[in-house]
Amino acid sequence: MIKKAVIPAAGYGTRFLPITKALPKELLPIIDRPTIEYIVDEAIKSGITDILLIVSSNKNAIIDYFDYNIELETILLSKNKEEEYRMVRDIARGANLHFIRQKEQLGLGHAVLQAEAFIGNEPFAVLLGDDMYVTQKEPAIKQMMNAFEKTNASILGTMEVSYEDTYKYGICTPKTEKKGSLAELKDVVEKPDIEVAPSRSAIGGRYILTPTIFKYLKSQQRGKGNEIQLTDAILRLMKEEKVYSYDIDAKRYDVGNKLDYIEAIIDFGLEKEDLKEGLKEILKRKVK
Ligand code: UTP
Repeated sequence: MIKKAVIPAAGYGTRFLPITKALPKELLPIIDRPTIEYIVDEAIKSGITDILLIVSSNKNAIIDYFDYNIELETILLSKNKEEEYRMVRDIARGANLHFIRQKEQLGLGHAVLQAEAFIGNEPFAVLLGDDMYVTQKEPAIKQMMNAFEKTNASILGTMEVSYEDTYKYGICTPKTEKKGSLAELKDVVEKPDIEVAPSRSAIGGRYILTPTIFKYLKSQQRGKGNEIQLTDAILRLMKEEKVYSYDIDAKRYDVGNKLDYIEAIIDFGLEKEDLKEGLKEILKRKVK
């Protein structure tokens, strides 16, 4: 049973400069809540009890967001703003949150390695701090946790992309012809050109990993972008243990990408009772 999750949120967020000089990418608001809160909630709804957030020295605002703010709460209560008080008090209720700093931003693989002592010797979930999955069905990571019950091996959360987009992702090569959403892998190719892409199955921001991964992360040399890449360590893990892909049934927003971020705000706005009619009017006017 998977009970622990890791959320890497220590990257520089260069695609969102200059705002990320002062505001962590993971705190970019989807109207009134930060991206990372939706990701923490996904883990909680999936039955995760302990969540480790990997942050960096200039990302203390993430830790503050998940802490109580006694001064604000006292003021809200003194003004009889009971609803607002509940709103801030209930953030991330339901799991224990832990924090650790990645002292140098050496890549996603290096970020996950910081979780070794926290994880110990059990399988765990990884949810990237800027990747949101929205669904009316079971949460994305829960879908993968269910699949893990069958495989007992590492699983990479995937989605189908067009061949034109394969150069942006790690692309999976299934061992045999793919049937259904779960597939054993024989290879992963990092950001292949359209002519050589082995499939359209792209890795998104969700993983279930066995603790064996730490052995490979510890000895992992720097790869693409001069960073310690999680995918490189998974490729080495694949020689020792089975690794699967699982097609997540949910809408994904890569909030580190500006257009996805804007789409997330529009979609969430269209779901909010107090905003949807006004927002529809604005959108109608714009597309005219
Ligand atoms: P990204 O690939 O989006 O990198 O990381 P980034 O540096 O944050 O953003 P850009 O590409 O420069 O705009 C995916 C996830 O891994 C985390 C990020 O915070 C993000 O949630 N990460 C990345 C780390 O925690 N540490 C790292 O060294 C790199």
